[in-house]
Amino acid sequence: MASSSSSAPAVGPEIPWVEKFRPTKVADIVGNEDAVARLQVIARDGNMPNLILAGPPGTGKTTSILALAHELLGPNYREAVLELNASDDRGIDVVRNKIKMFAQKKVTLPPGRHKIIILDEADSMTSGAQQALRRTMEIYSNSTRFALACNTSSKIIEPIQSRCALVRFARLSDQEILGRLMVVVAAEKVHTFSVCDKYAVLNYTLLEQLSSKLSVKSVNVLNVVTFLISEMHFPAFI
Ligand SMILES: Nc1ncnc2c1ncn2[C@@H]1O[C@H](COP(=O)(O)OP(=O)(O)OP(=O)(O)O)[C@@H](O)[C@H]1O
Ligand SMILES: [Mg+2]
Repeated sequence: MASSSSSAPAVGPEIPWVEKFRPTKVADIVGNEDAVARLQVIARDGNMPNLILAGPPGTGKTTSILALAHELLGPNYREAVLELNASDDRGIDVVRNKIKMFAQKKVTLPPGRHKIIILDEADSMTSGAQQALRRTMEIYSNSTRFALACNTSSKIIEPIQSRCALVRFARLSDQEILGRLMVVVAAEKVHTFSVCDKYAVLNYTLLEQLSSKLSVKSVNVLNVVTFLISEMHFPAFI
């Protein structure tokens, strides 16, 4: 998914590639075909159930929720979506106040559409906050749906789990990651580059080599790619 501006050198403040190339449509999310197919049905039909998206880091959970919310709510996104991530306080007071106030807010939406509260990294919420969340979830289910992202669904209290559809994300294969990386590399016209991780700096001049070399270090591929995409300030770019 290359944006139309991606073929031109970036002007003004650089958008980190991790954001620039974050898919904006559910259909553009790589891998996890079953999960993506389920989310596409919801995007098409509406009536989003409460959702838990669970899986390892960097597999597209947050990306999927954001894309789904945009597809469902379009121009209403700003007033109909509340995003709370791990850097926001999501303790019991926030659940009682901010989340509840948003759930009570009246927003006129088309049939089959609901306000959405996105709780990223929900497994880091205390059980007290989760209990309060469960009640809000129950009370406002007519107007407001929740989408929780987490690494481990077992850290979500059972009463919330039982009110949510669970969508599991698995690690992407090396080929899937590399395929996506190649999209970035092609869009940014990168021909020669360095791949850095904590322990090594590897120079590959041919993209084909990158593919075979990286799969040897498969455990680190995701880290390397995440690092590559998020910390694009290597002097070695030509
Ligand atoms: N399946 C995917 N398809 C395409 N791009 C992806 C995919 N997964 C991750 N990415 C890329 O990696 C970035 C991080 O993904 P995302 O934030 O969705 O991961 P996450 O599953 O929420 O991870 P975490 O558990 O760390 O929050 C995205 O901005 C996107 O550029
Ligand atoms: Mg996330």
